[in-house]
Amino acid sequence: MREYPSGRVDLRSDTVTQPTAAMRAVMESAAVGDDVLGDDPTVQALQIRLAEMLGKEAALFVPSGTMSNAVAIRAHTSPGDEIITETTSHIYQYEGGGYAALSGCSISLVPATRGIMNPDDVANAIRKAEGSLGHYPDGTMVCVENTSNRGGGTCYPQEILDSIAKVAHDNGCVAHIDGARLFNAVIATGTDAARMVRDYDSISICLSKGLGAPVGSVLVGSSDFINRAHRWRKMFGGGMRQAGVIAAGGLFALDHHIERLAEDHTRARKLAEAVNAMDGFTVDMESVQTNMVYIDGDLDAKEMMARLSKHGIDVLDVGPTAVRAVIHLHITDEDIDRTIAAFAAL
Ligand SMILES: Cc1ncc(COP(=O)(O)O)c(C=O)c1O
Repeated sequence: MREYPSGRVDLRSDTVTQPTAAMRAVMESAAVGDDVLGDDPTVQALQIRLAEMLGKEAALFVPSGTMSNAVAIRAHTSPGDEIITETTSHIYQYEGGGYAALSGCSISLVPATRGIMNPDDVANAIRKAEGSLGHYPDGTMVCVENTSNRGGGTCYPQEILDSIAKVAHDNGCVAHIDGARLFNAVIATGTDAARMVRDYDSISICLSKGLGAPVGSVLVGSSDFINRAHRWRKMFGGGMRQAGVIAAGGLFALDHHIERLAEDHTRARKLAEAVNAMDGFTVDMESVQTNMVYIDGDLDAKEMMARLSKHGIDVLDVGPTAVRAVIHLHITDEDIDRTIAAFAAL
């Protein structure tokens, strides 16, 4: 499915997707109301749908994945608390330090392999004020990212996810999943979504990444948690009025764009294998589990980007000699062949 207003192959991120004609049609005809007054039937349908899919009581539509994580952190913690998460996680690296500025939390970082934390390392990273003569902050929230973006789009094995939730709960913490790409993990591992998140207190799902909706994320959890999150969404300025127009794109994505993620994963693997076989490039093949390919080259990353760009291929630099290619619903088999040819010509 190309439906893309450009002849370029845009692999910078799965956030570059544009609503397809079919998605736009349902958005155009969506029933809407004032969601701040609780009137928007399409937003409500989306919230109910995702809560059901994840086996939780309630959900809240928010404008972005960053706001979803921020609202979750604010609703789960008090100023002076500490959150526990992985060193390369989006919450730590790419959310502007929101955990500190918006929630007054410090952060305890957990090392990981390919973005996947070990439960013992999580346990070691949880600090408690009690028993420390007041020296430590109170670790109260463990955040797990599945799939792990900077890990390479890697998926948590279910037993590790379950163990981390247990470690969190045994140590008086809530457990949160930044599931910006949870459905990539669901498809790649063949695990039911509700089973995957069973032991977690809250989950953030992005509709505007691999699922291909233009805007929006959904925070999912217990009714009590979502009631608190609703208040923080309001304070953070995330209450939207006739949001059903965009929620309709999200509902369409849940209906039509989950199973097809398998195609993105197959194409990512094909690209990774081909580039890894070339002299001058290395791909950690074990990290290629979903729709992302991190490529390390002999060339400077900016130079790699510039040269690929001349072939009509857009990637993102993610390190001095590393670029990232992300496969999404507009990328066809021909686009993959074109990208492989471009790498071969560098
Ligand atoms: C793992 C992860 N979490 C959260 C986000 C934030 O999403 P948004 O860009 O909608 O704020 C991203 C964005 O790429 C992400 O990769």
